[in-house]
Amino acid sequence: MRTELIKALLFATVSFASAYTDNSNPKDIVLNGLTALLGNTNATKAVQGIETYFSPDYVQYTNTDILDHDSFVQHIKDLKVGLERSNLHIKTIIGPTEASTNSSLEHQVGSHHHITLGYGNKTMSSDVISLFGLRDGKIVECHEVTQ
Ligand SMILES: *[C@@H]1O[C@H](CO)[C@@H](O)[C@H](O)[C@H]1NC(C)=O
Ligand SMILES: *[C@@H]1O[C@H](CO)[C@@H](O)[C@H](O)[C@H]1NC(C)=O
Ligand SMILES: *[C@@H]1O[C@H](CO)[C@@H](O)[C@H](O)[C@H]1NC(C)=O
Repeated sequence: MRTELIKALLFATVSFASAYTDNSNPKDIVLNGLTALLGNTNATKAVQGIETYFSPDYVQYTNTDILDHDSFVQHIKDLKVGLERSNLHIKTIIGPTEASTNSSLEHQVGSHHHITLGYGNKTMSSDVISLFGLRDGKIVECHEVTQ
Protein backbone atom coordinates (compact mmCIF):
# COMPACT_ATOMS: atom_id res chain seq x y z
CA MET A 1 0.00 0.00 0.00
CA ARG A 2 2.71 2.40 1.09
CA THR A 3 4.89 1.51 -1.88
CA GLU A 4 1.97 2.07 -4.22
CA LEU A 5 1.42 5.49 -2.71
CA ILE A 6 5.08 6.41 -3.06
CA LYS A 7 5.07 5.16 -6.66
CA ALA A 8 1.97 7.20 -7.41
CA LEU A 9 3.57 10.30 -5.91
CA LEU A 10 6.77 9.70 -7.84
CA PHE A 11 4.83 9.21 -11.03
CA ALA A 12 2.87 12.41 -10.40
CA THR A 13 6.13 14.31 -9.88
CA VAL A 14 7.69 12.89 -13.02
CA SER A 15 4.60 13.62 -15.13
CA PHE A 16 4.51 17.14 -13.80
CA ALA A 17 8.23 17.68 -14.50
CA SER A 18 7.89 16.39 -18.05
CA ALA A 19 4.57 18.10 -18.72
CA TYR A 20 6.26 20.93 -20.57
CA THR A 21 8.82 18.91 -22.50
CA ASP A 22 6.95 17.32 -25.43
CA ASN A 23 7.76 19.79 -28.16
CA SER A 24 5.65 17.99 -30.74
CA ASN A 25 2.49 19.15 -28.96
CA PRO A 26 1.37 22.70 -29.89
CA LYS A 27 0.35 23.39 -26.29
CA ASP A 28 3.80 22.40 -25.00
CA ILE A 29 5.51 24.48 -27.68
CA VAL A 30 3.58 27.52 -26.43
CA LEU A 31 4.22 26.73 -22.73
CA ASN A 32 7.92 26.10 -23.35
CA GLY A 33 8.19 29.23 -25.51
CA LEU A 34 6.52 31.43 -22.87
CA THR A 35 8.65 29.91 -20.11
CA ALA A 36 11.90 30.43 -22.04
CA LEU A 37 10.97 34.07 -22.70
CA LEU A 38 9.46 35.12 -19.40
CA GLY A 39 10.25 32.48 -16.79
CA ASN A 40 13.74 33.80 -16.02
CA THR A 41 15.91 36.90 -16.33
CA ASN A 42 18.50 35.42 -18.72
CA ALA A 43 18.55 37.19 -22.12
CA THR A 44 20.63 34.44 -23.78
CA LYS A 45 18.10 31.81 -22.76
CA ALA A 46 15.27 33.98 -24.05
CA VAL A 47 16.92 34.43 -27.46
CA GLN A 48 17.62 30.67 -27.64
CA GLY A 49 13.95 30.13 -26.77
CA ILE A 50 12.89 32.32 -29.68
CA GLU A 51 15.12 30.29 -32.04
CA THR A 52 13.69 27.03 -30.73
CA TYR A 53 9.98 27.78 -30.53
CA PHE A 54 9.31 30.73 -32.87
CA SER A 55 9.38 30.83 -36.66
CA PRO A 56 11.67 33.31 -38.49
CA ASP A 57 8.37 34.54 -40.05
CA TYR A 58 6.89 35.27 -36.61
CA VAL A 59 4.59 38.30 -36.33
CA GLN A 60 3.20 39.57 -33.04
CA TYR A 61 0.17 41.84 -32.72
CA THR A 62 0.10 43.33 -29.21
CA ASN A 63 -2.65 45.89 -28.60
CA THR A 64 -1.92 48.42 -31.37
CA ASP A 65 1.73 47.32 -31.98
CA ILE A 66 2.96 44.94 -34.68
CA LEU A 67 6.36 43.31 -34.24
CA ASP A 68 8.14 41.18 -36.81
CA HIS A 69 10.66 38.52 -35.74
CA ASP A 70 13.66 40.88 -35.50
CA SER A 71 11.82 43.61 -33.61
CA PHE A 72 10.41 40.92 -31.30
CA VAL A 73 13.95 39.67 -30.51
CA GLN A 74 15.03 43.27 -29.82
CA HIS A 75 11.94 43.87 -27.65
CA ILE A 76 12.74 40.80 -25.52
CA LYS A 77 16.42 41.84 -25.21
CA ASP A 78 15.30 45.31 -24.09
CA LEU A 79 12.99 43.81 -21.46
CA LYS A 80 15.94 41.90 -19.98
CA VAL A 81 18.18 44.93 -19.45
CA GLY A 82 18.47 45.44 -15.69
CA LEU A 83 15.86 42.74 -15.08
CA GLU A 84 16.29 41.18 -11.62
CA ARG A 85 13.07 39.21 -11.20
CA SER A 86 10.89 37.57 -13.82
CA ASN A 87 7.80 35.59 -13.00
CA LEU A 88 5.37 33.91 -15.37
CA HIS A 89 2.09 32.57 -14.05
CA ILE A 90 -0.04 30.63 -16.54
CA LYS A 91 -3.67 31.02 -15.49
CA THR A 92 -5.31 29.19 -18.39
CA ILE A 93 -4.15 27.42 -21.51
CA ILE A 94 -6.63 26.36 -24.17
CA GLY A 95 -6.20 24.09 -27.15
CA PRO A 96 -4.72 23.10 -29.44
CA THR A 97 -7.55 23.58 -31.89
CA GLU A 98 -7.31 22.81 -35.58
CA ALA A 99 -7.13 26.01 -37.60
CA SER A 100 -9.92 26.67 -40.12
CA THR A 101 -9.67 25.12 -43.58
CA ASN A 102 -8.33 28.13 -45.45
CA SER A 103 -5.94 29.28 -42.77
CA SER A 104 -2.18 28.93 -43.33
CA LEU A 105 -1.96 27.93 -39.66
CA GLU A 106 -2.12 24.31 -38.47
CA HIS A 107 -3.06 24.86 -34.84
CA GLN A 108 -4.10 27.58 -32.45
CA VAL A 109 -3.44 27.74 -28.71
CA GLY A 110 -4.91 30.31 -26.33
CA SER A 111 -3.32 31.49 -23.13
CA HIS A 112 -4.16 33.76 -20.23
CA HIS A 113 -1.04 34.55 -18.23
CA HIS A 114 0.31 37.02 -15.73
CA ILE A 115 3.81 38.47 -16.00
CA THR A 116 5.73 40.23 -13.25
CA LEU A 117 9.04 41.88 -14.09
CA GLY A 118 11.24 43.42 -11.39
CA TYR A 119 13.87 46.10 -12.02
CA GLY A 120 15.53 47.25 -8.79
CA ASN A 121 12.72 48.71 -6.70
CA LYS A 122 10.36 48.91 -9.71
CA THR A 123 7.90 46.15 -10.55
CA MET A 124 5.92 45.91 -13.77
CA SER A 125 2.97 43.62 -13.84
CA SER A 126 0.71 42.68 -16.71
CA ASP A 127 -2.16 40.36 -17.47
CA VAL A 128 -1.97 38.98 -21.02
CA ILE A 129 -4.52 37.20 -23.19
CA SER A 130 -2.87 35.62 -26.23
CA LEU A 131 -3.92 33.57 -29.21
CA PHE A 132 -0.95 31.77 -30.78
CA GLY A 133 -0.92 30.36 -34.31
CA LEU A 134 1.43 27.45 -35.12
CA ARG A 135 2.75 25.86 -38.29
CA ASP A 136 5.43 23.16 -38.73
CA GLY A 137 6.04 22.94 -34.99
CA LYS A 138 6.78 26.66 -34.56
CA ILE A 139 4.84 29.66 -33.35
CA VAL A 140 4.22 31.85 -36.41
CA GLU A 141 1.90 34.48 -34.97
CA CYS A 142 0.45 35.84 -31.78
CA HIS A 143 -2.51 38.15 -31.30
CA GLU A 144 -2.58 39.49 -27.76
CA VAL A 145 -4.04 42.13 -25.51
CA THR A 146 -2.50 43.25 -22.25
CA GLN A 147 -4.09 44.90 -19.25
C1 LIG B 1 22.25 32.38 -19.34
O1 LIG B 1 21.93 31.25 -20.12
C2 LIG B 1 23.01 30.78 -20.89
C3 LIG B 1 22.47 29.71 -21.83
O2 LIG B 1 21.72 28.74 -21.12
C4 LIG B 1 24.11 30.28 -19.96
O3 LIG B 1 25.19 29.82 -20.73
C5 LIG B 1 24.54 31.44 -19.07
O4 LIG B 1 25.47 30.98 -18.13
C6 LIG B 1 23.34 32.04 -18.35
N1 LIG B 1 23.75 33.26 -17.64
C7 LIG B 1 23.51 33.41 -16.35
C8 LIG B 1 23.96 34.72 -15.76
O5 LIG B 1 22.97 32.56 -15.67
C1 LIG C 1 -11.96 28.58 -48.65
O1 LIG C 1 -11.53 29.13 -49.90
C2 LIG C 1 -12.36 28.74 -50.99
C3 LIG C 1 -11.70 29.26 -52.29
O2 LIG C 1 -11.31 30.61 -52.14
C4 LIG C 1 -13.77 29.29 -50.77
O3 LIG C 1 -14.62 28.89 -51.85
C5 LIG C 1 -14.32 28.73 -49.47
O4 LIG C 1 -15.59 29.30 -49.20
C6 LIG C 1 -13.37 29.02 -48.30
N1 LIG C 1 -13.82 28.35 -47.10
C7 LIG C 1 -13.96 28.97 -45.92
C8 LIG C 1 -14.39 28.12 -44.79
O5 LIG C 1 -13.72 30.15 -45.76
C1 LIG D 1 14.32 53.28 -6.25
O1 LIG D 1 15.62 53.17 -6.78
C2 LIG D 1 16.11 54.39 -7.30
C3 LIG D 1 17.42 54.10 -8.00
O2 LIG D 1 18.20 53.16 -7.31
C4 LIG D 1 16.24 55.40 -6.15
O3 LIG D 1 16.72 56.64 -6.63
C5 LIG D 1 14.86 55.61 -5.51
O4 LIG D 1 14.96 56.44 -4.37
C6 LIG D 1 14.26 54.27 -5.08
N1 LIG D 1 12.89 54.50 -4.67
C7 LIG D 1 12.37 53.92 -3.59
C8 LIG D 1 10.92 54.20 -3.32
O5 LIG D 1 13.01 53.18 -2.85
